[in-house]
Amino acid sequence: MRMLVTGAAGFIGAKVAAELLDRGHEVVAIDNFDTTYSAELKRQRAERLRARDGFRLVTGDIRDETAVRSMFDPLPEVVVHLAAQGGLRKSMDEPAVFISANVSGFGNVIKATVDAGVGSLVYASSGAVYGGTPGLPFEEHDAAAFPLSLYGATKRCDELLAFTYAHGAGLRCTGLRFSTVYGTDGRPDMAMYTFARLISQGQPIRVHGHGQMVRDFLWGDDAAHAVVLAAEDRSGFGTTPAAGGPRQEVSSAPWRVLNVATGRQVGLMEMVRLVETAVGRRAELEMVDALAAEVRENRMDVSALGTTLGFVPSVQVEEGIPQAVRWYLSYLGAATS
Ligand SMILES: NC(=O)c1ccc[n+]([C@@H]2O[C@H](COP(=O)([O-])OP(=O)(O)OC[C@H]3O[C@@H](n4cnc5c(N)ncnc54)[C@H](O)[C@@H]3O)[C@@H](O)[C@H]2O)c1
Repeated sequence: MRMLVTGAAGFIGAKVAAELLDRGHEVVAIDNFDTTYSAELKRQRAERLRARDGFRLVTGDIRDETAVRSMFDPLPEVVVHLAAQGGLRKSMDEPAVFISANVSGFGNVIKATVDAGVGSLVYASSGAVYGGTPGLPFEEHDAAAFPLSLYGATKRCDELLAFTYAHGAGLRCTGLRFSTVYGTDGRPDMAMYTFARLISQGQPIRVHGHGQMVRDFLWGDDAAHAVVLAAEDRSGFGTTPAAGGPRQEVSSAPWRVLNVATGRQVGLMEMVRLVETAVGRRAELEMVDALAAEVRENRMDVSALGTTLGFVPSVQVEEGIPQAVRWYLSYLGAATS
């Protein structure tokens, strides 16, 4: 199949593109090499992909409607939308940047998908949509009405926009609510890597939520595999009955949201201990309050992901964090030498 992938120079996007190519698909991609973190790292990912048959990447911005529409000739069969601005605190400080990329940009992508007659859209949402949702674990049936960060609110907004086109145009929309994704070739701005750098330099690390926060760490290649499974999935589906579901006459709209996580909870201090071991040095801890935008405990029900896509995570933190830290320290050495 021919797949259009937005954000393909990104951490998850580059892994998705690589696996799609491995599985014999053709990939057309767009990325604007945003400088939230190293554009050079994104270029390196893109160069590796460009060396492969069946891959084409256009440098362009999803906020530019003309650039987005140009990606639909030749016509892809599935659109995988991963381009976005990330970062909880940054989203509170720079709302316009997030709203334009994550909401207006999403609007350009979904409308172009519908106008081109492409039948299926898979897009990155986030576990951040759950925010202040009461009750754990977070389930797709929850209303997800209380995001704590503007970033989470933009992702929830995308899900709502998607419902309108799933209903109005019959577009099959799959929103993937990723937990915390980490791994090799990752995003150097993630807390895990900041911890690794500071510990290796003998500097104190700031541990948010006094170390009481709980996360579900998903290996990057596993996250990418879930995206690929969703992109290849041809099965029919109706509306995820979030918040009790819609009225009966609109409940056949092909709109689903899926938690994408391991289902295993890891305390922040457990993550710190694994980073310390990987670095080979003890951390000096500075315990601080959590940010208002941070969810204290992120526990996600992953049963729907398993039953609908047959997804099983392959890497747990004991194996993944040492690999991710080793990658980061060598990346850091190469970047600063
Ligand atoms: N990594 C995680 O822990 C995580 C968790 C939840 C959700 N997500 C979502 O998954 C998706 C991929 O995340 P990632 O970790 O690979 O992030 P990333 O920042 O590495 O990748 C995003 C890519 O999109 C590109 N991009 C940003 N704005 C763009 C624009 N206006 N036009 C074109 N390209 C643009 C960036 O240059 C980047 O290459 C995002 O939608 C993100 O919100 C990620």
